Amino acid sequence: MKQPASSTLSEKDLLKILQSRKYRGLGLPLSTLQDIAEKEALRGIPPKELEKAVREKLHQLVAPYLGDPDYAAESARLSSLTAGDSTALREWCQGVLSCHASTRERIPMLAEFYQLIFTQIGTIKSILDVACGLNPFSLPWMPDGVSFQYIAYDLHLPRVQLINQFFKKTGSPGRAIQQDISIHPPELEADAAFFFKEAHRFEARQRGSSRILFERLQVRWIVVTLPAYNLTAQHPMRERQRALIEKSVSGTPWIVEDREICGEMIFFIRKNG
Ligand SMILES: C[S@@+](CC[C@H](N)C(=O)[O-])C[C@H]1O[C@@H](n2cnc3c(N)ncnc32)[C@H](O)[C@@H]1O
Repeated sequence: MKQPASSTLSEKDLLKILQSRKYRGLGLPLSTLQDIAEKEALRGIPPKELEKAVREKLHQLVAPYLGDPDYAAESARLSSLTAGDSTALREWCQGVLSCHASTRERIPMLAEFYQLIFTQIGTIKSILDVACGLNPFSLPWMPDGVSFQYIAYDLHLPRVQLINQFFKKTGSPGRAIQQDISIHPPELEADAAFFFKEAHRFEARQRGSSRILFERLQVRWIVVTLPAYNLTAQHPMRERQRALIEKSVSGTPWIVEDREICGEMIFFIRKNG
């Protein structure tokens, strides 16, 4: 039986989680925890087990096991680089990209990965990179990377701050915004949205949430990627990932095509035009 929302955790309990050693430096929004706690309570998790359930969900959401750079050290390194030195900036970007599993796996084929994407979606003026992680540091490998507006969204404040420092340093027309896209899907209109390697976690937080996000995004193209294998690269996940996308677009007039490059499945969802 569903529990009333009143059986959720108190703000004090949620702040205690946010201020724990594991999460204190991340500046996560309190509203994200409130949302997780309310949804877990509605799933019927008994009050005594609620804190544990919220911590587990948060662990999956933030995924510290995927890796992080030392944000303060990288910020200092970035400040010391010369803005016009594209070789040094590329090297710095590659170093940062290598700190997180999602971007590290792409490094051997980064140029090919973006070539494939931009060949499919064509010339664009704006991109929303939702749940961006460290992906905006791939900008130097994107064709005409600095010519379009790049708006990146993530929950993780040190990531958002480093991305904004990078945009400023390189003069890129972009900005990063700290926003929980599950609670507040981006409202900005753009040509395309990137939603890379996150839809399966999104579904774990709330089943059906990818579809809600896809519906809300005001873009012509949604480019969704999902890993073809699990984290140990031992178990193929293609069928499950394809099912997730099929379910998220079923009954819509959207057209979906897919490709795969280096263990990453890429789904091109054409919403219109
Ligand atoms: C697995 S990483 C993927 C990063 C990137 N998309 C890529 O493939 O390189 C997931 C990122 O999504 C962010 N994230 C997860 N849920 C989010 C949400 N609801 N709103 C905004 N960011 C979110 C996490 O903080 C993390 O940086």
